[in-house]
Amino acid sequence: MTVKLGFIGTGGIANHHIRSLAQIEGVSLTAFYDVDLGRAQKAASEHNDAKAYAKLDDMLDDSKLDGVYICVPPLAHGDAEQQLIERAIPFLVEKPIGINRDTPAAISQAIKDKNLITSVGYHWRYSETAHLAKKLLAERTPGMALGYWMGGMPMVPWWRVMTGSGGQFVEQTTHIVDMLRFLCGEVNEVYAAYALQAMGKKVEGTDVPDVGTVTMKLANGMVATISNTCMMPVGHHVGLDIYTDEGVLEVRDTSLKVIESEGVQTHGNTIDLTIAEDEAFIHAIRTGDTSRIKSNYEDALRTHEITIAATESAVSGKPVLLGSF
Ligand SMILES: NC(=O)c1ccc[n+]([C@@H]2O[C@H](COP(=O)([O-])OP(=O)(O)OC[C@H]3O[C@@H](n4cnc5c(N)ncnc54)[C@H](O)[C@@H]3O)[C@@H](O)[C@H]2O)c1
Repeated sequence: MTVKLGFIGTGGIANHHIRSLAQIEGVSLTAFYDVDLGRAQKAASEHNDAKAYAKLDDMLDDSKLDGVYICVPPLAHGDAEQQLIERAIPFLVEKPIGINRDTPAAISQAIKDKNLITSVGYHWRYSETAHLAKKLLAERTPGMALGYWMGGMPMVPWWRVMTGSGGQFVEQTTHIVDMLRFLCGEVNEVYAAYALQAMGKKVEGTDVPDVGTVTMKLANGMVATISNTCMMPVGHHVGLDIYTDEGVLEVRDTSLKVIESEGVQTHGNTIDLTIAEDEAFIHAIRTGDTSRIKSNYEDALRTHEITIAATESAVSGKPVLLGSF
């Protein structure tokens, strides 16, 4: 069966998926919608028999799609998901799934009611080294974790404002929060401190904090701190270090360093994470078997809620209990 796919949003990450999907057999990219019609037209012009649409309704009425990729900025979630759910069309949506709690929570409930196939773009979960870390952790006692996303500011205009991206912790550092949950389990409580130190002066209109630290208590007793900054002109740490009774696991997107008394071992990854993520989604559409999807909407909602709770804590100055809303 040829899987017919459509795209909602045809910017940076959409084009990354488009290149990855080109390497998967039996996939046809047939419909592209973007609020910037020129972008949709460009994407359509690069695929045989594909069409660009100026309206989402028109795309969904016109094309019988087996699945859709939602690759819109964080502020733009809601309508696209609800339309796909109503039409029972499986979708892969990029993280973050929103900039507030209520819209994603309502979408998650509607997905459950329809039992719809979904996938969310937490691609780190497809890394072989993340799975090795999980296996090693089962044989160790984890005590604490330190996570980081230390770098510069993406220059797309929606990123620098809270009403566009939700801020760095929600938009970017969510990958590290998701790895923490994937490897160490659920988070019960968060306390955050954020500040805007430099980028407000450097890039006009910036209101997202450019430094922040979030402390968490986990259900298994662990404590974790995840920090981020987007004020630097250079990249630095991006990853999660987990401290156990045997030593340290340094988890990165495609590598794992194990530092223990026997010595230091570095493990690499042999697969492309986006291709693995896309293959899992296509396989689920084709067969109904969702077991290869590492992050579905319901699971991603739990990661998202932690990042939203962190933002709330930074504003109120008080710890926030997860599940208290
Ligand atoms: N998984 C990852 O590692 C990863 C990497 C990059 C981006 N992303 C995520 O992907 C999302 C998009 O990021 P990007 O870098 O592609 O942004 P982008 O600005 O390059 O592209 C977004 C596109 O969506 C279009 N758009 C905006 N509102 C829309 C709407 N309501 N309906 C249809 N189209 C709309 C814009 O015109 C633009 O073409 C973000 O949430 C980002 O966090 C994820």
